Amino acid sequence: MGGDKFNPNDFTYQTRINIGFNNIKGKWSSAQAEFSDNSLRICGHPVMERWEDNYMKTLADIATFNGGVILEVGFGLGISATYIQKNKIVRHIIIEANCDVFQKAKCFAQNARYPVQLIFSFWEDCISKMDDEILDGILFDTYPLQANEIHKNHFNFFNEAYRLLKNGGVFTYYSDEINDFSQEHLKFLAEAGFKKISSRVCEVKPPADCQYWQNNTILAPIIIK
Ligand SMILES: C[S@@+](CC[C@H](N)C(=O)[O-])C[C@H]1O[C@@H](n2cnc3c(N)ncnc32)[C@H](O)[C@@H]1O
Repeated sequence: MGGDKFNPNDFTYQTRINIGFNNIKGKWSSAQAEFSDNSLRICGHPVMERWEDNYMKTLADIATFNGGVILEVGFGLGISATYIQKNKIVRHIIIEANCDVFQKAKCFAQNARYPVQLIFSFWEDCISKMDDEILDGILFDTYPLQANEIHKNHFNFFNEAYRLLKNGGVFTYYSDEINDFSQEHLKFLAEAGFKKISSRVCEVKPPADCQYWQNNTILAPIIIK
């Protein structure tokens, strides 16, 4: 799935193109979110599904490896947020762009073990207000809101991740890779300044009707500044 270029024959690409990206970014903030026990859909898109639980735990454990102040971008079903709070941290900052999901994040914050700071925004609109080198860990898991962001929405964040992390801070994210980094992926990490790049391969079992992932593994990046 994660490849050097869009592959118009690939399953994820076809699915998302068929659903359509017709100005969903303009509608996203106020769009009604459809929650079920196992999934979250916004603007008709399959944004998050419960089968990712094991992967989200892995990402949360990586992001909180140093404890301290953790930034999470994209709350979704709150799975990774719940795992972040199971580890010892100092503060949990969450940026979320959809109003209904943000309401869920508010409830989550009220019951959280460690203090949660919530920001209702697209990360692109608020991240420049955060100071350099203030974070110990970052978990980035958003969703492509334009066709040209499919497989690539995380690449746009790499420069900011590098700027925000303290030396030794850990960055992880939904990689869109099956079991290794593509050359293009490594190029974006290197251009942002990251040199310490490793990963874990996580076993997953997406259901046959999952519209965005059809592999039995997914890569969990461990990127250290
Ligand atoms: C895949 S879900 C996150 C799943 C989450 N990690 C979990 O464990 O449930 C993506 C979330 O990112 C939010 N989102 C999408 N684009 C965003 C952006 N540019 N800035 C902030 N949040 C965004 C969506 O509204 C959605 O709630």
